[in-house]
Amino acid sequence: MNHHVTHEESDWFVHGLPALHRRIQSILQRQRSEYGDYYYFYGQPYQALGILGVYGERSTEERFDTYRLAKLIKSEDRVLDIGCNCGFVALYTSYRTGCYAEGIDINPYMIEIGDQCSDYLRVSDRVKLSATRIQDFAGQADFTVVFSFATHWTDDENYRVPLREHFERCASYLAPGGLLIFETHAADVGNAQFYDAINTFSDMFSVEDKWDTDKGTRHLYLFRRNK
Ligand SMILES: C[S@@+](CC[C@H](N)C(=O)[O-])C[C@H]1O[C@@H](n2cnc3c(N)ncnc32)[C@H](O)[C@@H]1O
Repeated sequence: MNHHVTHEESDWFVHGLPALHRRIQSILQRQRSEYGDYYYFYGQPYQALGILGVYGERSTEERFDTYRLAKLIKSEDRVLDIGCNCGFVALYTSYRTGCYAEGIDINPYMIEIGDQCSDYLRVSDRVKLSATRIQDFAGQADFTVVFSFATHWTDDENYRVPLREHFERCASYLAPGGLLIFETHAADVGNAQFYDAINTFSDMFSVEDKWDTDKGTRHLYLFRRNK
């Protein structure tokens, strides 16, 4: 006898996944034929999202854990993720904590994928993703948390500004006392110039904590915005 109890909600979640994956494949197909820009990870998303079986280079769930986001983010937070790729870290953080999250990325195809996943996880009422350049984003200083993950300069060369300018931009989006969660690139690790620069931002931020991520190949910093 089959003791499986049909539960409409969980069955829907599983049965809808193939159609979600087809929609994602069609977005990636359009990206390949229409988008002349640089591709991360062979044209696949840079970010993976295990809960929906979405393939990508870096696991969102693993990052959520190693960045300690369950502890750092509260339901009342307003999070801004700049250069968010598919916005998976932002939307998964909202899914797990109940926070409001906004994400911006220059790549409209990654944003479309993020929107599909945000709808699927039913967090789209509190997650807003936009295809916008960081340079053009006119955010107010009303976010309590900013994520800057591997995005203070980009391999596609669509964002190359002095590190100080990047930190000033992040500070401008943060309410006083807000938190900048900043992940380096692997290339920054061991780079004396990078460490020297990081130490000159005390007019904007104090470093609250720092640890290594991505199997020790990157640093993660918590910068607290001065009041
Ligand atoms: C290395 S990926 C990091 C993505 C994400 N922050 C993460 O860590 O998973 C860099 C991202 O920056 C985006 N990007 C590049 N230049 C940008 C710009 N000027 N404005 C907004 N996003 C940009 C790319 O499309 C890409 O998704």
